[in-house]
Order: sequence, then C-alpha cells, then structure tokens
Amino acid sequence: MAKRIALFNHKGGVSKTTTAFNLGWKLTELGHRVVLVDTDPQCNLTGLVLGYRGATELESFYGDHPDRNIFAGLVPAFESRPAPITAVECVEVAQRPGLFLLPGSIQLSEYETTLGIAQELTGSIQALQNLPGAMPFLFDMTAEAHEADYVIIDMSPGLGPINQNLLTTSHYFIVPTAPDFFSVMAIDSVSRILPKWQKWAEQASSMDILKDASYPFPAPATKLLGTVVQNYRPRRGRPASSFQHWIDELAQAVETILIPAIDGAGMLLPGAEYEKAGVSLSSLNLVQIPDFNSLVAVSQEHQKPVFTLEPSDIDHKGTVLEQMLDNRDQFNGLFEDLATKVIQLST
Ligand SMILES: Nc1ncnc2c1ncn2[C@@H]1O[C@H](COP(=O)(O)OP(=O)(O)OP(=O)(O)O)[C@@H](O)[C@H]1O
Ligand SMILES: [Mg+2]
Repeated sequence: MAKRIALFNHKGGVSKTTTAFNLGWKLTELGHRVVLVDTDPQCNLTGLVLGYRGATELESFYGDHPDRNIFAGLVPAFESRPAPITAVECVEVAQRPGLFLLPGSIQLSEYETTLGIAQELTGSIQALQNLPGAMPFLFDMTAEAHEADYVIIDMSPGLGPINQNLLTTSHYFIVPTAPDFFSVMAIDSVSRILPKWQKWAEQASSMDILKDASYPFPAPATKLLGTVVQNYRPRRGRPASSFQHWIDELAQAVETILIPAIDGAGMLLPGAEYEKAGVSLSSLNLVQIPDFNSLVAVSQEHQKPVFTLEPSDIDHKGTVLEQMLDNRDQFNGLFEDLATKVIQLST
C-alpha cells in the first residue's frame, strides 16, 4: 500500500505546496512513483503542476475533464451514490514520468460542513458513516491505479474537519515552517490540536458503525517525520541573523512544546529511527531551505523545480550563470537530503 504523507501547518504561506511539489519530484527522481494530492480548495498545487497561466486554460481542464479532481472522486460517498468510489485518473507531470497529480477543486469546501457533522460522531453518523473513511479510500484506490509508492497530500492552511480527517488518516506528516514570529506561534496551536485530533480518531476508529462502513475509517497511526524550515535569506551560506533567531525559536518550540505534546499522543516514531536517518531528536528538523531568489522566476517559467534547471533554461551567462548553477546544485542537495530522510523514516 502506498504511504500517505500529509504536509500540515495551519499557518498559511509556509511552503506546504512548494515542499509537496519538490519532495514529490525528488522522490520520483530517486525511483519511486508518487501521486500528489491537492486538498486545498485554493488549488495552488494544481496551478503549479498544470503550469497553466491563464484562467481559461485551467477552465478548459476542468471543463474537459469534470471527473479528474478530488471533489469528483468523493461524490459517490458524499452524495450517497450507489456507485462506489473509484480511482481518479491523475494528470502526469509533463517533465517528470512517475509523478502524478490528483487535482484539487474549489468545490471541496462544500463538503467541509457535512464532514464536520459526520465527525461529531453523534446521531447523524448513522446516515454519514461513509464519509470519514472516504478520502483515504480514494487516495488508496488512486495510488493503486497509478502504482504509486507515495501519496503526498498538500493541505490547506486551517484546522477544519477536512484537515482533521486528512491528518489523522495519513501514515506520516511533515510540518513545514517559516522562520518568523507567527510560525513559532503556530507550533503552539499545532501542539494543542494534534493530540485532540488523535484522540478523536481513536474514538472514531473504535466505532462499529465506522468499521462497517463501505469506506472504513482506518485506525489512526500517523507519525511526525519532522519539520522543514523554508525560505530564509542566507548570508554567506548561513541564515541571516534575524532569521537565525526565528530558526532557533522554532527549534525551541518544537523541542519543548510540540514533541512532548505529540509524544504523549503516540505521534512520534521511535527515537532510534530519527537518529538512524540523521534527524536531530531535539528539533526533528529534516532540512532548512533558503530563499530560491532569482531561480524562482526561471523555475516558474519552465514549470519545474529549481533544482532541475539546466544552463539552457537560464537566460544568463558567465559568473551570473555559474552562481545560479551553484545555487541550483545546493537546492538539489537539500531536496535530495529531504527525500532520502523521508524514504528512510517511512520504510
Ligand atoms: N524557498 C523558497 N524561496 C523562495 N520562495 C519560496 C520558497 N518556498 C516557498 N516560496 C514561495 O512562497 C510562497 C508561499 O509558498 P507556498 O505556496 O508553498 O506556501 P503554502 O504553505 O502552501 O501556502 P498556503 O498556506 O497558502 O497554502 C509561494 O509564492 C512560493 O513560491
Ligand atoms: Mg499551499
């Protein structure tokens, strides 16, 4: 069965989507098949992967392929259709064989309220018993159809019922962060919410009605792989001091607040596993990724990650080109390191 890895932080703009895309790409470079799932109704990952530039082109994708998105895939469960959930035909990423996208849908938000009611686990669960297990079921079917080893789940920023479901039904999760004040604050609330969600999932998975559903709610077993610190501005290869301050604060919050909170909820791997993968037990940091700077524009233009850019993609010469290629190699090393740790920790 494919491993489902969720990228979760309710704080917005901390590189969840960027990390999902780059990690997924790197995993395929290392020989794995990957389905990226866009569960954010804002559909940023879908926009990134499809590389469509105008609204009309995106519109024609959804118009021409109304069944090829997450919302459409869930319709059988949420609209109580007699036909069962089946795999969604993903979009293969143009320049990356083995990397697929299960596109997002703005309509997914329509299911937030219904799923929320189901997840209250009160009287109405009778009629809604097929909802809590629907998303992991859909991802499994879709991964199987594409022979994927990994499902990378890009989540929206928020603490709603859909995210509660996605997080508790994943096998692993990663917390992307940015080195700033609000990211440190966010670690605080993530630490409070995760144990609550875990407790809820334990209760849900123990209920016969959810065990006997067409799409049974899986027993929660999600584990934190680690954090990613992204988008800081380096000075001579090291984070600038104002960023270093927030990186240290983040590490401190993870060590003193997050780790104790989720350890109690059974959401950590055994310490030896982190050590074996070269992940510090105190910060659980997987990687620190600097600002892509001038490579961002080139990567967007060519619709591929910064670490895959070729000299012919870059419209510069001489030392500027050399500097950019040096940076590319640095990012390549960092994402390879991240993907290698993810593989090791999830094996
Ligand atoms: N290392 C980086 N260097 C430069 N820009 C970056 C880097 N990482 C992310 N970005 C940019 O930062 C912005 C936010 O990143 P991204 O969309 O991945 O965050 P997110 O957590 O998914 O946001 P949201 O919560 O809105 O879904 C994007 O414009 C992205 O291109
Ligand atoms: Mg995003």
